[in-house]
Amino acid sequence: MATNRTFTMIKPDAVEAGNIGNILKMITDGGFKIVAMKLTHLSETDAKKFYAVHAARPFYGELVEFMSRGPIVAAILEKENAVEDFRALIGATNPAEAAEGTIRKAYAKSIGENAVHGSDSDENAAIEAAFHFAGREIF
Ligand code: PPS
Repeated sequence: MATNRTFTMIKPDAVEAGNIGNILKMITDGGFKIVAMKLTHLSETDAKKFYAVHAARPFYGELVEFMSRGPIVAAILEKENAVEDFRALIGATNPAEAAEGTIRKAYAKSIGENAVHGSDSDENAAIEAAFHFAGREIF
């Protein structure tokens, strides 16, 4: 299978809790190569755009407020079957349902504050990576 890429964010709750290093270790121990990474911040406008696909969902306002409340780590990860394998590594959206050994089981607080994002398709991974990174920032 061809090597491919996914996009991730370490969310404000996990940055605030001091878990950047622990989460990056789980990511690299899981076989993912970091090919782009930055500490950054989503403005409210940025968060609305990034999550526009969820605009009709009841939690959209809460999600936008949460994702713009403090710094995040944005990264592009490379591995065979990257999107699917990374979704397995992060675990279920709701940490109460996340399996042992997953990032959300270890570090997520709630369904709203769930520590980490992972793209849900190759197409969205490319769109989300381009939202955050210029070509010269990707290695
Ligand atoms: S997914 O990836 O679309 O299948 O996941 P989904 O469960 O549909 O959730 C999409 C994103 O919305 C966040 N979310 C919530 N935020 C606040 N409150 C509630 N109740 C809630 N439910 C879901 C969820 O963390 C997803 O964010 P990302 O950044 O994609 O992980």
